[in-house]
Parts: sequence; C-alpha cells; structure tokens
Amino acid sequence: MKQSIGIGLMGMGVVGGGVVDVLFDKEERLAKLIGAPLSLKRVLVRDVNKPRAVGLCDGMLTANADDILDNPDVDIVIEVMGGEQPALDYIMKSISLGKHVVTANKEVMAKHGAEILTHAREQGVQVLFEASVAGGTPIIAPLLRDLVTNDVISINGIINGTTNYILTKMAQEGQDFGVALSAAQELGYAESDPTNDVEGIDAAYKLAILSTLAFRARVSDADVYSEGITHLTAQDFRYASELGYAIKLLAIASKTDGAVHARVHPAMVRSDVMLAKVDGVLNAIEVQTDLAGRVLFHGRGAGDLPTTSAVLADVVNIARDVVGGAPPPPPPSLSDDVSISPISALETKYYMRLNVAERPGVFAQILKVLGDLDISIASAIQKETDDAARRAEIVLMTHRAKEASVQSALQAIGRLEVVNEIGSLIRVEEWD
Ligand SMILES: NC(=O)c1ccc[n+]([C@@H]2O[C@H](COP(=O)([O-])OP(=O)(O)OC[C@H]3O[C@@H](n4cnc5c(N)ncnc54)[C@H](OP(=O)(O)O)[C@@H]3O)[C@@H](O)[C@H]2O)c1
Repeated sequence: MKQSIGIGLMGMGVVGGGVVDVLFDKEERLAKLIGAPLSLKRVLVRDVNKPRAVGLCDGMLTANADDILDNPDVDIVIEVMGGEQPALDYIMKSISLGKHVVTANKEVMAKHGAEILTHAREQGVQVLFEASVAGGTPIIAPLLRDLVTNDVISINGIINGTTNYILTKMAQEGQDFGVALSAAQELGYAESDPTNDVEGIDAAYKLAILSTLAFRARVSDADVYSEGITHLTAQDFRYASELGYAIKLLAIASKTDGAVHARVHPAMVRSDVMLAKVDGVLNAIEVQTDLAGRVLFHGRGAGDLPTTSAVLADVVNIARDVVGGAPPPPPPSLSDDVSISPISALETKYYMRLNVAERPGVFAQILKVLGDLDISIASAIQKETDDAARRAEIVLMTHRAKEASVQSALQAIGRLEVVNEIGSLIRVEEWD
C-alpha cells in the first residue's frame, strides 16, 4: 500500500495558490479521506523569483516541467497553468508516463478532450477536470456518475460569471456595456483583456466539454456556435423588461435525431424562469434528462477557493483509487457517429431593434421583407427617438422563425433606404 501520494503542481496563480493553501490547511482531513497523506513534490511556475503570497520550502518552485514529469514520486499532476500550450504537451506527457492528471483547463479540454481521454484510457490512468466548468459547482462528476443511466435531452446554462455580472449591472442599473465591463474589471471579475469572456469564447469551451460528456460525443469548441455580449445596449434591456424578459448569455445544447446542437449567445428568457433570476457572478446549469427530469446545478463558477474545491475533489477521488490499488475507472467512451447541427438550422423566436426613418410606409416595407421570408410578427413597439431628425426606433418580436430566414431578412432590411441601422437581433427562448 502507498505510504503517500505525490503531487506535482503545474501553475501557482489564482487556482494553484488556492490549491497549495488548502493542501496545507486541510492536510489531516485530506489524509483521512484518502487513507494516506498528499505530499507536494514540486511546483512549476514561469518565474521562480516572483514574490508569492503562499510560502513554500526552498527548492519547491521550478521553471522546468521535467522536474515534475520525470519525478517517479509524482503520482498525480495538477495542471492549473491555463492556455493551450504547453499545458496540452505536459498533460499528454504525464499520461504517457503513467501519471494521473487533474486539470482546470477548459481550453485544453474543449479543444483536445477526446484525444486526452483516449490516451488516458490506453495508458490506464485517470484524467479528471471538474474545475474546468462552473468552478466549485459540481457538474462534470454528476454527468459522468450520478446521471450515468440517463439520456440527456438538453443543457441550458449560465456558465460565465463575468458576463453574467456585466449583464446583471446593465439590467439592474441601466448601464451601458462599457461601464458595466469597467466595474467588473475593477472588482477583479473581468480580466484586463476580457475578450474570452465577453465574446462568448470561454462559455463555448465549457459548453463543448458539457456536450461531450452529456451526449457521449466528440464535440469541440469549433462545433459550438458562439456570439458575445458586446453589441448589447441599455435600450435592449429596457425593451426586454417592458416585454417581460431578461437578457442572459446562455449556453444551450441538445441532441435530436443523432445531431448535437450547441450554441452560446445572448438570449431573452421570460423574467419568471429560473435562469432569468441567476444574477451576478453566479453560474447555473439545468440538465434535462429522460429519467431524472430537470436537475439544477447552481453556485460559484470561479474564484480560488471554489475552484480549489473542485480540483481537490478530483485529487481525492484519484488518490483513493491509488491507495486502494483499484484499477482506474475508464474514461467515458465517445461516439464518432454524431453530427453537429449548424446554427442556421435553429428555429426560435427573435427580437429585433431597428433604427429607421420616421416617415409613412416604413413599417409596411419591413413587414413585406419579413412576410416574404415567412416570418410573422407577434408584437411591435415603435418609439420616436429623435423628432427633429425624424428618426424612430422599432422593436419587433417574431413568432417562431427559421434562423436562416431571419439572417436573410436582416440583410434585406439593412439594405432598405428607410433603415438607418440594425440595432440588435436577440434570440428568444420560450421556456416554462
Ligand atoms: N481563476 C479562476 O477562478 C478559474 C476558475 C476555473 C478554472 N480556471 C482555470 O484554471 C487555470 C489557471 O487559472 P488561474 O486563474 O489560476 O491562472 P493564473 O492566475 O494566470 O496562474 C497561472 C499560473 O501558471 C503558471 N504558468 C503559466 N504558464 C506557464 C508556463 N508556460 N510554464 C510554467 N508555468 C506557467 C504561472 O506562473 P507565474 O506565477 O510564474 O506567472 C502561474 O503561476 C486556467 O486553465 C483557468 O481557465 C480558473
């Protein structure tokens, strides 16, 4: 029986720092849970001379990954460096060398999850990645274990806390996007380069991971349609509220007739549905299945300690198997026989905000374009926005329509001489 479980930590930033703290603070508890103590062997960082909040014994830090990879005493590699490379290389090398891996890296898992899991299966090691989606809120282990006998019908979620914070500020305080983003940056909720969050890229990574596990299919980030929140304005939130809706950046996936449909974009949801009430930096994911029905996961999606909670849960699970000498449970096998349904195949309701000339017949011209493409209007609001300049704003809510038709209609409407600007197009999700 193993006397201790050796840990090699790759990265000691926000998450890695939390991991080291809790490894020390909860040392005894972890040893009891596992049946042997965890022993931190080396910690990989970029700059060994950088001042660190957490004190480590001399010689613990290294800038050379081989100090972990070639160390026979390292049983589990915790990768919390982030980025695609060299993280992917280190994960694959760890697996080749028979080391188990715990990672929080959504980018690597979204882009290379299938090859990593296949390699782990071949090498008989475990790769766990609970922290890669929704931080401290369990979702991956439930999909792999607790819901394993279910067929997942759909996943609907808010899986990016930064954008949810920004959208909450825009809705509750009438702020414009730039102002709300600055507030998020001041509070440390958004990075100085917020592109991955506000363009929907981070949420697309996470949805690819969830779709892969939920539908047991190879779904990568490239298969997820994604659109960010930068084009939303304070007006959109005012109109949404007038119409009884909230605007959220949603991650939505489903599987029908063997095809997976996965998309991330701002969407309107009725203000009385559960996801409409998830505010601030919180995450929430609703999984609908054939047996369990609707199951909700709700909690903190980021931060050092919530993410550490998920990382160390994975470490404990692997370490227990190592101590007990149990063979690692095989990673999920993924079907290749799944196609990806494009966004153009979507059928839903739409909100459109148009800036138009204030003159007779404008509305009729727009309705004609929509009618020709089989798009019917459920409601319309017209407001004069600038009397002197004779410009008005029109807001339309459509009945269910085909995405491809709506995109063609928008192009045609944009070409009308009476239309100054297409303000926004937001998809509307009609959920109970
Ligand atoms: N932050 C969160 O709340 C959160 C939540 C869920 C998941 N995650 C995921 O967790 C991972 C880590 O995030 P984080 O926020 O902790 O990142 P971070 O604060 O930027 O820390 C990254 C750490 O990795 C080290 N590192 C980066 N590139 C390296 C390289 N090429 N060689 C050696 N060391 C390298 C850095 O070294 P130096 O310290 O020397 O710069 C730093 O210690 C990411 O995959 C992220 O997506 C984060």
